[in-house]
Amino acid sequence: MLVAYEYRGHMEIGIIGGTGAFGSGMAARLASWGHRVRVGSRDVLKSSATVTKLHDQWDLPDGVLVPCGNEVAAKAGVVMVALPWSSLKDTIAPLGPVLVGKTVLSPVNRISPSRQGPLPVRSGDAAAWELQQMLTGSQVATAFNHLPARAVSNPKTELDSDILVCSDFVDAFKVVEEMTRSAASVRPVYVGPLVHARAVEDFTSAIVSANIQNKRQSGLRFTDHVK
Ligand SMILES: NC(=O)c1ccc[n+]([C@@H]2O[C@H](COP(=O)([O-])OP(=O)(O)OC[C@H]3O[C@@H](n4cnc5c(N)ncnc54)[C@H](OP(=O)(O)O)[C@@H]3O)[C@@H](O)[C@H]2O)c1
Repeated sequence: MLVAYEYRGHMEIGIIGGTGAFGSGMAARLASWGHRVRVGSRDVLKSSATVTKLHDQWDLPDGVLVPCGNEVAAKAGVVMVALPWSSLKDTIAPLGPVLVGKTVLSPVNRISPSRQGPLPVRSGDAAAWELQQMLTGSQVATAFNHLPARAVSNPKTELDSDILVCSDFVDAFKVVEEMTRSAASVRPVYVGPLVHARAVEDFTSAIVSANIQNKRQSGLRFTDHVK
């Protein structure tokens, strides 16, 4: 059964893999936008160390970041998966029953490092598509795929980007809208169904490559020709 997420002024968000470069940055960012975030990990001590570090770096109210295991993070109202794509199946499949009825956000990019910089993985489906196949009772959506972790995790950086959301469920887009409501320069854009997730994930490698080539931390903006 799919249950529409009910917004109550702030969200309780769980991040699976919340100790990584991207997940920890998103945890602090989301907390700075007014949400309560469960920072999931395979190791609760590692999660506690991450939360302590984030509280030192960011000026956050006590208790908005909660250290926990991935299983506890998965019990939050909205869940973000911030894992390397190669570890999705082993980590997420066992959490499937806990994630039934929830919006599951995937910033996961199916890209791999190379000597020329990151490259899209040519074979196979998008990570978000794979997640949706695994989590048939959940509403999976791409989100935040193009934001560089270095920018996300820097408290002095105001994020300035569109967020491309692909999902077979429009309600999942509404969740991203609520999540980013207090972030003035972050605009979620609904792309359409998950079939477009592959293009969104692949484009990340082009953005990362452009940022390396041009020594920038650029995000992505759609422009409007008709004002
Ligand atoms: N880095 C970026 O700039 C960026 C930007 C946008 C999107 N993304 C996407 O966000 C995701 C996370 O990126 P990241 O750079 O933060 O990755 P990461 O640091 O390599 O890994 C994130 C976390 O995943 C957990 N993990 C690592 N290997 C695992 C395994 N084999 N099994 C289970 N858990 C494992 C670890 O948490 P524990 O050890 O605490 O369990 C780790 O801290 C990726 O899919 C990436 O494509 C990254």
